[in-house]
Parts: sequence; structure tokens; C-alpha cells
Amino acid sequence: MVFPEYRPRRMRRTETFRAMIRETRLAPEQMIYPLFVLPGKGVREEVSSMPGVFRLSVDQLAREAKECLSLGVRSVILFGLPEKKDGLGSGAYANNGIVQRAIRELKNKAPEMTVVTDVCLCEYTDHGHCGCLAGNEVDNDATLELLARTALSHAQAGADMVAPSDMMDGRVSEIRTALDENSYHMVPIMSYAVKYASAFYGPFRDAAECAPQFGDRRSYQMDPANSREALREATLDVDEGADILMVKPALAYLDIISRLRDEFDLPVAAYQVSGEYAMIKAAAEKGWIDGERVMAESLIAIRRAGADLILTYFAKDMARLLANGQ
Ligand code: PBG
Repeated sequence: MVFPEYRPRRMRRTETFRAMIRETRLAPEQMIYPLFVLPGKGVREEVSSMPGVFRLSVDQLAREAKECLSLGVRSVILFGLPEKKDGLGSGAYANNGIVQRAIRELKNKAPEMTVVTDVCLCEYTDHGHCGCLAGNEVDNDATLELLARTALSHAQAGADMVAPSDMMDGRVSEIRTALDENSYHMVPIMSYAVKYASAFYGPFRDAAECAPQFGDRRSYQMDPANSREALREATLDVDEGADILMVKPALAYLDIISRLRDEFDLPVAAYQVSGEYAMIKAAAEKGWIDGERVMAESLIAIRRAGADLILTYFAKDMARLLANGQ
């Protein structure tokens, strides 16, 4: 087909034509909304580097969940800020830990909400690393048991799905085994299979107070320069029993999302992280970009690259925009 017989502009002439041939769509149920839970009562405090995102105490969760549900956003992922931190991150797997309480509250007050939990130790360790330490290094194998305990305690509290984000080797099979041995064989694992050591997590570390107190996460999270390694990471997690493979961050790693989509048949998730959100919000506040359009464009780009679902702080805003017919 060559010009002038073929004119691509013909099918772009009206919105009805454009909608008719649109290749990618985004629906509210494809988005998971992250929630930060902290101790106290009646607490609703905005994260300074993430305008529009709030840290909530347990009693505020039901209202938030109902708002999400009314917009068609049917799942949330929980991150917790414990009362106190220690070397082994014991708050992560405490029966009455902050996330465990949050799960029970949501399951009680908003049972239609699907509750996913982030499984990691970094918010719960006093050193801020995602596992326990041996000297100044994160001890992979000793961490596995703590992660499995965390995932199991989430399932016992009623979590619908667990999402390990620690990047320890072997954690998916350890978690799968712990869940299965305790009759939680129906709780799926969404693995942060391909998680890069990224500067885009900056605002999240303010929100969740989990910046490492020494060093960085490069000995466990992936080198941003690597793409073939992403396939090896994903292969391991598939073999260990992951149900969903996640790539994180999203917009700077669209090629990775696309490769995973081509190479694997499991659902692929992408996490549009805090820094991606903060950049769009900040530029929009300055009037330098149209924040709403940039939000919609980046989310559709993540879907176009191959993500089936997206974890995003924009979930509510985007759902609202979709409800208004874009
Ligand atoms: C915990 C975790 C992090 C994020 C999700 N889970 C922080 C990190 O690895 O440093 C980042 C999410 C975001 O930036 O929005 N390990």
C-alpha cells in the first residue's frame, strides 16, 4: 500500500474512526492502587513528594477502598509502616502487624476489594535493607524464611495475593511452599520478577521510610543496563511458581515489558513507580505539561508495550478520566 492509494489519515479523521481502530485500551480493573498504612487513628497525611497520595491509618482504609471501588478500581496493594523496626524486620511477619491489621480491616469493611500485599522487609528493618544482614551484606538464604513467614501471615490475615519485591534468589518457591503447606494453595504470587535498582523509587522511600541506612540495593536489584538478565530472572520465577510477572519501573523499561510479553505466556504486570508519578505531578503543577494527558499517554504506553495490569498511583485519577469518556 502506497500513497496516494493508502492514506493513513483517512482513519484518523473522526474520533469514532480513531476509537474503532484503537489497538490498546485501559480499563479500571487493570489497575492496582498502592496504599501506605501507618499506625495511629484518624491519620491521613499527604506524601510531600507525591501530591494526591496519602498515608492512612487503618481506620481510614475502608473509605479509601470504597472510593476505589466506586471508580471501578477493584484491587489495592498494601505497604506498611510499622511502629518499630529491628534487625530482622519482625514487624513484617507479626500476627498483629500493621499490614496484617490493614488486611483484616479491608476484608471486613470492603470485602469486594481484592487485597494484594507487598512482601518485603525493607520497611521493617532498622537498616532499611530488604533482607536480614550477615555483616554488611544482605543474607539471601536466611532472608527467605522471613519472607515466607511474611507472605504466610498475610495470607492468614486474608490477603488475596502476595507480591514479593525483595529480589532475593529463590523466594518465589520458598513462599509457594509455605503457602501450600498451610493450605493457601489458592493464593497467587505476583512476583516482582524484574526489579531494577532504580532512582525512580526516591519518593516511595520517603512515603514508606525505607531508604537503606548504608549502601544501596544494587547487590540484589537489577542493573538498569541489563535486558537478557531480565529473561533469566523471569524464567526462574516462572519455574518457581509465579502466577504474574512484574517489571518495575515501567516507563523507562518498556522494552523489558515487551520482551517479557513475547517470551512468556503468564500475565505481565508493570509498576509505574513513585518517581514516575512525582515527575508528572511536578511538571503539571508548574504548568509545563498537561498532567492529565501525560498520565493517560504513559499508562497507555505501558499497556501497548505489553503489560496486562499496571500498579499505579494514578489509578483513581485515570479511572475518573475513563469514566468521563477521556
Ligand atoms: C520495597 C518496594 C519498593 C518499591 C516497591 N516495593 C522500594 C525499593 O525497592 O526501594 C518502590 C515503589 C515505588 O517507587 O513506587 N522493596
